[in-house]
Amino acid sequence: MKGLVLAGGSGKRLRPMTHTGAKQLVPVANRPVLFYVIDNLTDAGVTDIGVIISPETGEEIRSVLGDGSRWNAKLTFIQQERASGLAHAVATAKDFLGASDFVMFLGDNLIGTKIRESVARFRAHPELAASLMLKEVDNPSAFGVAEVDASGKVISLVEKPKEPKSNLALVGIYMFRSSVFEAIAEIQPSARGELEITDAIARLIEKGGTVDFSRVDSWWLDTGKKDDVLRANDTVLDDWLTAETNGDVDAESSVTGRVRIGKGAKIVRSTVRGPVVIGENARISDSFIGPFTSIGDGVRVDQSRVEHSVILRDATIEKVPSLEDSLVGKRVVVAPGRAHGGALSLMVGDDSVVHLSKT
Ligand code: G1P
Repeated sequence: MKGLVLAGGSGKRLRPMTHTGAKQLVPVANRPVLFYVIDNLTDAGVTDIGVIISPETGEEIRSVLGDGSRWNAKLTFIQQERASGLAHAVATAKDFLGASDFVMFLGDNLIGTKIRESVARFRAHPELAASLMLKEVDNPSAFGVAEVDASGKVISLVEKPKEPKSNLALVGIYMFRSSVFEAIAEIQPSARGELEITDAIARLIEKGGTVDFSRVDSWWLDTGKKDDVLRANDTVLDDWLTAETNGDVDAESSVTGRVRIGKGAKIVRSTVRGPVVIGENARISDSFIGPFTSIGDGVRVDQSRVEHSVILRDATIEKVPSLEDSLVGKRVVVAPGRAHGGALSLMVGDDSVVHLSKT
């Protein structure tokens, strides 16, 4: 069984973070989302993995993932020239997939469970044309929605329906056989101009194929937007973080709860209250780092208080009395300036959002 990870697109929804990086590389607890995807596939025994990349962000994805040896996996990068839909991405990977069965995993989706059992079931039941993962959600209209019967089969599927027939959303993880290529060849672009995988699966069912599903009972996060990134960070820190200290904590500092400190990091006269992850070579001095915070590699926090935030690599936070619920990009500097009388002096990039505190 092969794997197909979709890591294309230009990440418009998470601007400005994704002006300079792919959305699948946004770090959650200091690891790119895509790493958790590959963890999950390799845990299920899927190690021959194609990665769909776009011309905009493909090079970055390639260099961050490498050749897959970190997972004992083999990665093959496949460029999709235009973002023309998930089914189009599958068709682009036809040469790589050949006649193999495969698991497709959207590179910006994080789930709290392993897919191992679902993959094993699909392998053991060759009569299934496809197998899906579904989760009950409050806003099904934002997703692909499945209608299922009492025997556990999918009977209909609609992409972003105005009037959903159920609250079961398609999580971005799908298992297929090579029969999906025929179905893809038979569908037309949707109203948003894309070849939808949801339509291809509906076509498989119309042609008499059996499609079953597993329910995702754990959390599921689509890390498209700032609040999703903060929520994914909370959840991963809460569920998966283990304490480990590889950096230096001086005698005047206090570190409590689950805190992971990277190599070369220094904590000086500071309090860190977990769950918190601090990246390699970060320096925290005279500061408080509160729960649910991820501090990236090389970040400097001085004389500040940071809570419930994600600070990306090489940013500087200096003399900030209180920073909360924030996503701070790479190399950003947040510090007092030369402005007087309560004025702000900003150099803020395109599409940034600055929320001032309520007075
Ligand atoms: C895509 C699929 C949709 C699925 C969702 C999961 O939507 O088309 O069926 O529910 O991923 O993340 P998109 O993110 O392209 O809007």
